[in-house]
Amino acid sequence: MTKQEYEVKDIGLADSGMLNIELAEGRMQALQKIRERFSTEKPFKGLTIGMALHITKETAVLVRTLVAGGAKVSIASCNPLSTQDDVAAALAKDGISVYGYKGESKDEYYKYIDAVIATKPNMTIDDGCDLVSRIHTMHPELIKSMIGGCEETTTGVIRLRAMARDSALKYPVVAVNDNKTKHLLDNYYGTGQSAIDGVLRATNILIAGKVFVVAGYGECGKGVAMRAKGLGANVVVTEVNHFSALQAVLDGFRVMPMAEAAKIGDIFMTVTGDMKVITLDHMKQMKDGAILANAGHFDVEIDVASLNKSMKKRKMRNSLDEYVVNGKRIHVCSEGRLVNLAAAEGHPSEVMATSFAGQALACEYLIKNKGKLKAGVITLPEDIDDEIARLELEAINVKIDSLTAEQAKYLSSWKEGT
Ligand SMILES: NC(=O)c1ccc[n+]([C@@H]2O[C@H](COP(=O)([O-])OP(=O)(O)OC[C@H]3O[C@@H](n4cnc5c(N)ncnc54)[C@H](O)[C@@H]3O)[C@@H](O)[C@H]2O)c1
Repeated sequence: MTKQEYEVKDIGLADSGMLNIELAEGRMQALQKIRERFSTEKPFKGLTIGMALHITKETAVLVRTLVAGGAKVSIASCNPLSTQDDVAAALAKDGISVYGYKGESKDEYYKYIDAVIATKPNMTIDDGCDLVSRIHTMHPELIKSMIGGCEETTTGVIRLRAMARDSALKYPVVAVNDNKTKHLLDNYYGTGQSAIDGVLRATNILIAGKVFVVAGYGECGKGVAMRAKGLGANVVVTEVNHFSALQAVLDGFRVMPMAEAAKIGDIFMTVTGDMKVITLDHMKQMKDGAILANAGHFDVEIDVASLNKSMKKRKMRNSLDEYVVNGKRIHVCSEGRLVNLAAAEGHPSEVMATSFAGQALACEYLIKNKGKLKAGVITLPEDIDDEIARLELEAINVKIDSLTAEQAKYLSSWKEGT
């Protein structure tokens, strides 16, 4: 560990980290366009932005975009297993206050978030709401100089809305997850691909012919089910919501309670944002060799805590533990933490281009509307969301039609009928 303005695993990894960042930059053209504009307009001049995000090559591109816009940035990870150590080193060498390494303990996790808080941010960017929650509960003195915040994921937005309901949220936070260019792209295509990538890297299992159980048919679950089906799996969905369950049925999947799915599944993926979706009782029903992975935000979807308390455990290889439950082997990927970030590299850069374009423009929106926004959860105006899609289409050189004046009039009129 080196300690200065940063704390990373090994600063010697910086050069390889910078090559990875360069690769990501080449695939994140929408964000790069925003970076070009920011570097002349400098919207964040004089501001400090504190972040708790997965420290990946794509996040590094966001960091560099905000720095190009004049911000001073400090960053800690939002998950103890997701930091890409070479990327963290590259950011540190580039002068960013970065704190975290892959495999950090829970105490270190909060120590690093506190290190970000110690830089006295005027804006926050969170993935999961731990930074906002820590500022509100332990450092409320920072709130008066806080312009606003941005939240990346579904679970974080759920926590923020709960804070707002209790009148506990004291500054405006943009729910970037609610952008169409975030949850309908990142959660669906990103998690769909990267969560399966995580399982493959942890296990190298053949997906074809396996019963693949997806718990939760929201944006992420739909993506995972689609990709598992594409690889030849026989997909089963579990749900608690009637409409989502019906959608899964109409998409051609079998739907059943987890108690039944547990008996037939070969691979299980939780993506609910809920807790104890797979319990020890479920595991007792599972087949020998069943594989369990989670892509929901926190490590509470699979009850790994109970497994650790009572079952014999062997580390089989990186990102894969074996437990013996009722005499049968149960294989758990990445300790039940986000498998796509812990066992693989997170979402591909292309999908993070639009998610993080949303973060960058949300920060700019907060600055432009400084003092005008009420404390609470805010949705970005639709035209900003649309601009992100336009930028990405431009980046990938896809052209579309535009409405003629006659069509625009027709679409806004109620008088035209049969
Ligand atoms: N791994 C990643 O990179 C990544 C990316 C985006 C979001 N996420 C996280 O994934 C989780 C899901 O996000 P989303 O956008 O799909 O949310 P969503 O709200 O669209 O979907 C969640 C679904 O889970 C269902 N559900 C809740 N409890 C359940 C239970 N006990 N059993 C079965 N189904 C249950 C809900 O009814 C809902 O349909 C969140 O924690 C989110 O933060 C992870």
